[in-house]
Amino acid sequence: MKTKVAIIGAGPSGLLLGQLLHLQGIDTIILEAKSPEYVLGRIRAGVLEQGFVDLLREAKAGERMDREGHVHEGFSISFAGKQERIDLKSLTGGKKVMVYGQTEVTRDLMDARAASGGVTIYGAENVELHDLYSDSPRVTFQKDGDLIEVECDYIAGCDGFHGVSRKSAPKDEIKTFERIYPFGWLGVLSRTPPVSEELIYACHERGFALCSMRSESLSRYYVQCALDENIDEWSDERFWSELKARLPKDVAERLVTGPSIEKSIAPLRSFVTEPMKFGRMFLVGDAAHIVPPTGAKGLNLASSDVYTLYHALRKTYSEGRADLLEKYSEICLRRIWKAERFSWWITSVLHKFDGDPFSARIQQAELAYYTGSLAGLTTIAENYVGLPYEPVE
Ligand code: APR
Ligand code: PHB
Repeated sequence: MKTKVAIIGAGPSGLLLGQLLHLQGIDTIILEAKSPEYVLGRIRAGVLEQGFVDLLREAKAGERMDREGHVHEGFSISFAGKQERIDLKSLTGGKKVMVYGQTEVTRDLMDARAASGGVTIYGAENVELHDLYSDSPRVTFQKDGDLIEVECDYIAGCDGFHGVSRKSAPKDEIKTFERIYPFGWLGVLSRTPPVSEELIYACHERGFALCSMRSESLSRYYVQCALDENIDEWSDERFWSELKARLPKDVAERLVTGPSIEKSIAPLRSFVTEPMKFGRMFLVGDAAHIVPPTGAKGLNLASSDVYTLYHALRKTYSEGRADLLEKYSEICLRRIWKAERFSWWITSVLHKFDGDPFSARIQQAELAYYTGSLAGLTTIAENYVGLPYEPVE
C-alpha cells in the first residue's frame, strides 16, 4: 500500500488530522489497533475550547456538535464553604467553551471519514515503524494473519500514551518529563439531570470533586480517590454520599442520584516528550503528552498539535514549505508547556494532598487570592478557554 501520510491511531487526533488532510486532497491511511466499538467505548472529558471547535468545523465534522453541544459562559469553584463563579465570557472578552463529549466527537469524525471514503484499517496488529530518517519511511502491520506494508512520505504518531510511535523514536534522541500525582479520580456517568447548568470544581477537606455533564439528562461526576482504590468497594450509594459530602450544602441538596451506567478509576499524570519530531515521524496528542484531567485540556492540546501538523503538511505539499515541518516540535511545545502548567496548577490547588498544615493553608490562600482578584480570575479564565494557537508560517 502507498499513501502520503500514514496515521497511527484512530482516536480523535488521528481522525481529525486525517479528515483535514483529506479535504486538502492529501491522501492518508489510518491504522488502528482496536475496533471502532472499542474506541467509542472510552469515556473522556467533554469541554471543548474554541480552537478545537473551529478545527472540527473546518474538518466538516462539527454539525452535530453545533446542534447538540452546549455553550458555557462560566464555571464555578467551591472551597471553604463558598462557591465562586468564573465568568469566562466577561473575563476573556467574549470567549466561551463548548460542552460536548469526546466520545461524540470521535463518532462524528468516524462518520466523516467513512463518508469521505478515507481508508481506516481497524484491528491492525503489530504495527511497526521503519526508516524514520529516510525520505521514504514505511509502516508494517498484520491483519488477519497477513503482513502488510505501507509506504509513505510522513508518519503521524497519533496512537496515544501507550502507542508504538513514541517507543519507535531513537532512545538517545528523546527526553521525557513526568509527574505522577498521589491520587486518582473515580468517575460515574448517570442518566440523571446535571446538578447545575455549569460545571462545579469542588475543593474540600475530604478531597476534590467535580460535577460535569454530557446533556440535560446525562451527568458525569468525579471524586478524588486513593491510587490503590478498589472499585468494587464503591457502590453507587457510597459514591453519591461521598460526592454530596464534598459539595456545597445547597448543591448537595439539589443533586439527583440514580444508577451509574459507567464507573471507572483513572490515575492522574503530567507527561511531556521532547522533541515531537523524529525524522519523518511526528508525535501528536496523547502520544506526546498527558495532562491530569482537571481543566479538561487533553483533547484541546491534541487539537493544537493537529492544527500545527496539518498546516505544516498542507504548506509542504502545496507550497514546498518543508521548513515548517522542522518547526513542528518547537511550535507545539510552547503551547503544550503552558497547558501543562495550567493543568498542574489547577490540580495542585484543588486536590487534597497529605502534606503539612502550612501547605494546606497556602492552598486555601491561593484559592482565595485567585478568586478574589480580577487578575487572578482573568488568569484562570484565559487558560480555561484556551491559549491561542501559534500561526504556522
Ligand atoms: N497501533 C495502532 N493503533 C494504536 C496503537 C498501535 N500500536 N496503540 C494505540 N493505538 C490507538 C488506540 O487504540 C487509540 O484508539 O491509538 C488511539 C489513540 O487515541 P487516544 O488515546 O484517544 O489519543 P488521541 O487521539 O491523541 O486523543 C487525545 O484523548 O486521552 C484523551 O485526554 C486525551 O482527550 C485527549 C485525547
Ligand atoms: C468531564 O466532563 O468528563 C470533565 C469535565 C471537565 C474536566 C474533566 C472532565 O475538567
